[in-house]
Amino acid sequence: MTFHEWITHNPGGKKRVIVTKCLPGAAWLEALAGAGCRVDVCDWDETLSRDEITRAIGERCDGAIGQLTERWDAALLGVLKGAGGRAYGNYAVGYDNVDVDAATALGIAVGNTPGVLTETTAELAVALTFAAARRVVESSRFLTEGRFTGWLPSLFLGERLWRETLGVVGAGRIGTMYARMLVEGFKMDLVYYDRHVNDQLEAFVREYGAFLAGRGEEAVKCRRAASLEELLREADVVSLHATLDESTSHLIDATRLAQMKKNAILVNSSRGALIDEQALVEHCRRHPTFHAALDVFEHEPWLTPGLVDLPNIVGLPHLGSATRWTREAMATLAASNVVAVLNGWPVWTSPDVLPFLAPEPPNAAPSIVNPAALGSISAT
Ligand code: GLV
Ligand code: GLV
Repeated sequence: MTFHEWITHNPGGKKRVIVTKCLPGAAWLEALAGAGCRVDVCDWDETLSRDEITRAIGERCDGAIGQLTERWDAALLGVLKGAGGRAYGNYAVGYDNVDVDAATALGIAVGNTPGVLTETTAELAVALTFAAARRVVESSRFLTEGRFTGWLPSLFLGERLWRETLGVVGAGRIGTMYARMLVEGFKMDLVYYDRHVNDQLEAFVREYGAFLAGRGEEAVKCRRAASLEELLREADVVSLHATLDESTSHLIDATRLAQMKKNAILVNSSRGALIDEQALVEHCRRHPTFHAALDVFEHEPWLTPGLVDLPNIVGLPHLGSATRWTREAMATLAASNVVAVLNGWPVWTSPDVLPFLAPEPPNAAPSIVNPAALGSISAT
C-alpha cells in the first residue's frame, strides 16, 4: 500500500491522529481538527495489516482511531506508544480486538462507543429474529428465483412468537433494549441469563405486566435463569448479547445446542465466537426446524463451510450498528475520546453520552475502558 490512499486533513495541526477507515458524518473530523490535530484518514476498504498500520503511525502519532477488524495487540500498541501515542479509540462498542491490559501498561487510554448503538443494534436483532421465525430470506429467494407457482397451505410455515418465551443471554444495554422491544411488541415472556440481576429490566416487565393485567390482558413475566441450560431448555428464541472473552468463547457449543428446543431460533448480533460455528452448522443440518440468524461470525469475514448453504441459517454482514445516525454518533464518540485524552480531560461518568452529540459537547472523554491508563492527570 502506498501513502496515496491516506487523505490528510488540517495539515498544520500540532498533534497527529490516524484514522484507519473513512467514517461517516463530519462532526468527528471537526472535533479532531478543532482540537489542533492533523488527521490522516485511510481511504481504503481493505482491512489494514499490522505493517500498514505501523507504517501509517510512522514516527509521530499522538492518537489513533481504529476498527474492530484490526488487532490492536501489545505489539501494535507498542508501536503507537513509540510514536508518542496516548490514545486509541475503537470505532465500536465491543473491544475484544484490543489488548486493553497491554494498553494500560503502556499508558494508552482505550476508548469505545457505547450508548449510541443500543436501539439500533436491538432493532437489527429483532429483524433477525423475525427473519428466522418467518423464513423471510429463504422464501424471498424462492420468489425471486421464479419458483412461486401459487399460494399453498403449507408453503414456508414458520413460528409464531406472540406470547412465546424469549431467552436473552447477556442483559446489558443492547440485550435489555431487545428484550423490551419483544416483550412490549409481542408480549413475550422473558427469561434472561446474566451474572448480575437486572433490577430495571425486571421492574419494567413487572410494571408492563401490571399495565396489561389492568386492561384485562394476560400479564407478561420475567425471570432470571439460574443457569444457561435452564434458559436454553425453556426459550423459543435465544438471543446472544454477551461480550466476548475467554469465559464466553463457544458459550453455545454442540452440548448447549442439543439442550435447546428442536424448533428454537438462535440469534447472534454480538460476537461470532460466542457460537461454535462448526457445531451450529452440524446442528442446523440435522434439525431443519431449528433456525439461526447471525449478524456476526466466528472467523469473519470467512464463513464456516456449509453455513450459507443451509436454508435454516440467515446471515448478515455484521450490520448491527449500521444506521446513519448510529455510525455518525460512533464517529463523534471515537473522536471525542481521543480529543479528551490528548487534552487531559476527565472521563465522563454518566452512561448518557448524548451530550457529546450536541453543539457544545462536554470537556470529557465519553467512554474510556481503562481509565487507570490516564494516571493522575484525569482520574475522576
Ligand atoms: C460492533 O460490533 C461493535 O462492537 O460496535
Ligand atoms: C452495549 O452497549 C451493551 O453494554 O450491551
